[in-house]
Amino acid sequence: MKTLVVFYSLEGNTKFIADVIAKHLQADTLELKTAKPFPSKGFKKFFKGGMSVVFKQKPKLDNKDIDLNPYDNIIIGTPVWAGSYSSPVNSFIKQYPFTGKKVGVFLCSGGGGVEKCCSNIKKALPGNSFIGEIDFVEPLKRGREEAFKASVQWCENLSL
Ligand SMILES: Cc1cc2nc3c(=O)[nH]c(=O)nc-3n(C[C@H](O)[C@H](O)[C@H](O)COP(=O)(O)O)c2cc1C
Repeated sequence: MKTLVVFYSLEGNTKFIADVIAKHLQADTLELKTAKPFPSKGFKKFFKGGMSVVFKQKPKLDNKDIDLNPYDNIIIGTPVWAGSYSSPVNSFIKQYPFTGKKVGVFLCSGGGGVEKCCSNIKKALPGNSFIGEIDFVEPLKRGREEAFKASVQWCENLSL
């Protein structure tokens, strides 16, 4: 059973969790990168990212020729943007559609929009079975140790 952890992270929170999960599950990782990086500071950060979600944009990915065939399990991580999943994850889902996988979802947020984000991801990935979801509020600022432990626990409870 092969597992891929695929994620996007603008400011490192989702990456932090992705690394813990991938290590614990002995999974491959794929960090999504956009050809044109999103601004990571100030007003522009929220404006550009927020608009890209509202307008359902699919920013061009730098990652090339992603092959999901070898994987039985796909664990997807994203920051919550404008109450949904980040647009680079939208690019991934649209460019590399897949079905018949076991899917886990992990989210990092500032504390709002988690449920809608999760339900939007599920809606965007019909034909897969969802095996677990977990969310974190600003793990880098609010407690890495706690987030680390919760991630490991989550991995142990996943029926992969
Ligand atoms: C464009 C943008 C939109 C955001 N929208 C939300 C939101 O709707 N709800 C929320 O709780 N946090 C929101 N945030 C905060 C991020 O979800 C949060 O900081 C997350 O931990 C960032 O993860 P990252 O470090 O992996 O990028 C937003 C951040 C950005 C950049």
